[in-house]
Amino acid sequence: MDRKIVSTKERIKSGEEHEVEIHGLTHDGEGVGRIGSLAVFVPDAMPGDSVRIRIISSKKSYARGLITQIVQPSSQRKTPLCPVATNCGGCQLQYMEYETQLFWKKRQVEDAFTRIAKLNVEVRKIKGMEDPAGYRNKGQFPIGMVNNQVIMGFYRKRTHEIVDLDACMIQHPLTMKLSLAVKSVLHELGIEPYNEKTRQGVIRHVVTRVSFSEDTLMVTFVTNTAKFPQQEELIQKLIAQVPELVSIAHNINTSDTNVIFGDKTKILWGQANLIDTIGYLKFAISPRSFFQVNPVQTHILYDEVKKAAALTGAETVWDLYCGIGTIGLYIAEDASELYGVEEVKEAVEDARHNARLNGITDVQFLCGKAEQVVPDLIEQGAKVDVVLLDPPRKGCEVELLSTISQLEVPKIVYVSCNPSSLARDVAYLVEQGYEVGYVQPVDMFPHTSHVECVVVLER
Ligand SMILES: C[S@@+](CC[C@H](N)C(=O)[O-])C[C@H]1O[C@@H](n2cnc3c(N)ncnc32)[C@H](O)[C@@H]1O
Repeated sequence: MDRKIVSTKERIKSGEEHEVEIHGLTHDGEGVGRIGSLAVFVPDAMPGDSVRIRIISSKKSYARGLITQIVQPSSQRKTPLCPVATNCGGCQLQYMEYETQLFWKKRQVEDAFTRIAKLNVEVRKIKGMEDPAGYRNKGQFPIGMVNNQVIMGFYRKRTHEIVDLDACMIQHPLTMKLSLAVKSVLHELGIEPYNEKTRQGVIRHVVTRVSFSEDTLMVTFVTNTAKFPQQEELIQKLIAQVPELVSIAHNINTSDTNVIFGDKTKILWGQANLIDTIGYLKFAISPRSFFQVNPVQTHILYDEVKKAAALTGAETVWDLYCGIGTIGLYIAEDASELYGVEEVKEAVEDARHNARLNGITDVQFLCGKAEQVVPDLIEQGAKVDVVLLDPPRKGCEVELLSTISQLEVPKIVYVSCNPSSLARDVAYLVEQGYEVGYVQPVDMFPHTSHVECVVVLER
């Protein structure tokens, strides 16, 4: 063990042991310490901890190490509720008191704006959950076979090794009931999980969804084969064990990739979509469509979007990256007209269905990439007062941001689940003449390092 001062020139080597004080947290939730002037990243360590680590990799500007002993725990450290917390790659912050998690998530957002956007913006108090457990409505479980037993869970951190999961503190309890039933029925019928190495076997992933408002379930089996063996027996056994099931779907993915879904989905049994409620609106969700994973916080997030948009009833709103139309439909009562744009065809069909389901008219949902559809909308002379942006983690294409800026849209409300791409895109919009009103973080993903934000920008 070694506490000597190490200069940057002196290279830390793999296998060495050091003691470090953890003073920060990366956006992936790893603790940050220093050995001399070298930054060292430590999974499962938190600010305030003093830990002994074994170096597992060392580069010129940083090293990574694994905890061998917590010498002095932070006063904010707690015992994780999940028995597999340190193995499972799902949660990164379970060993932190919830209030401390919220503190560091807000800090992550502030850092992204100062470091990446070089902007000094108002980051408001993060909106956390009252009861941050059992909040997830969706599970995407890889499946495998160990010692003749079907296992299903999450990938161990930074690996493709499956950690079998019988309990999970962030999933809704119905998801765990369904997951246990799926494992036992697949085992009973001898339906083989897919093996990534040999590329043999049938089931690649099991994707589950719960409706929090109706206590019902949808399950999608992603297979490596076009044919689903013993499909009838599987359906009968599953619906007998899990009466909450209302929909069983089959998606075919024969490609050699990490992408979960293939292009073809069919409903094997039951409803074509699951119905859930946000506020006073009902939403139909089909197997491949995006729906926010935390319905309790989604209500809070969409209220924040409503507040930021501050519509008077006269505005035309473009909801870009609209998914199944949720945000647009949520604020549609205060708008004069609404256009939604989304690239997944099934999600656009869901969005149109959802408008009808809620009796909302004066809305149009268009299928295509936002960066390609928006120029068409402009050419057709569509008016716009407020643009809502809610892109995936990688953020918006710069050509879309450029088109919106040139159009001088008075207000943009940007919803993002990735502070880094958000800060990059906001910096661009500021260069193009926008001003940031404020940033409102919302904790959609307790116990993980992820954080959602709503940003309002005006010309
Ligand atoms: C973070 S989700 C937001 C969905 C929706 N706003 C909500 O709150 O449920 C992002 C959505 O953008 C869609 N998407 C991804 N790239 C896109 C693009 N270039 N143009 C249009 N939609 C896209 C995805 O299919 C997904 O539905």
